[in-house]
Amino acid sequence: MKKKITIEYQEFKSITSLPEDDALLLKEAVSATDLSYSPYSKFRVGAAVRMANGQILKASNQESAAFPSGLCAERSVLFYAFSKYPGVAVEALAIAAKKGKKLTATPTRPCGACIQVMLDAQNRGGKPVKVILGAAEKIEVISSVNDLIPFSFDNL
Ligand code: THU
Repeated sequence: MKKKITIEYQEFKSITSLPEDDALLLKEAVSATDLSYSPYSKFRVGAAVRMANGQILKASNQESAAFPSGLCAERSVLFYAFSKYPGVAVEALAIAAKKGKKLTATPTRPCGACIQVMLDAQNRGGKPVKVILGAAEKIEVISSVNDLIPFSFDNL
């Protein structure tokens, strides 16, 4: 039997059309790109999370001379958030990236390893994590991590 999985997401033309709290979070992700340490890839990624206690935390990708050792912005911010507030749910995660000084034209989609950790975060919090992918020409909003990984690993 053939089966099909469909996912839904929203597309916005600019940051001004996002709800205020999401626009703020995306601005934090954009500002985090300037804190990236990416001398090898020259791809500066920023991520920001909004937590259920109202805290907003941001982080960036950090590379190493032993490239590809290093960590993506998304995992950096999620591990940081859970180190600081282990029992608090993540409500939303925003991502942005720059090549050089310029915001990418199209959204940067998280890698597989980051999506898994985003799913872990969602399961820990017990409610959907909204994912906001920012870029110069459009913004994509995915309302649950399940839409990024419909065939997810689950060992619980
Ligand atoms: N990177 C991220 O930080 N997040 C992503 O979603 C994609 C990739 C980083 C890893 C590496 O430092 C650089 O971008 C190039 O792959």
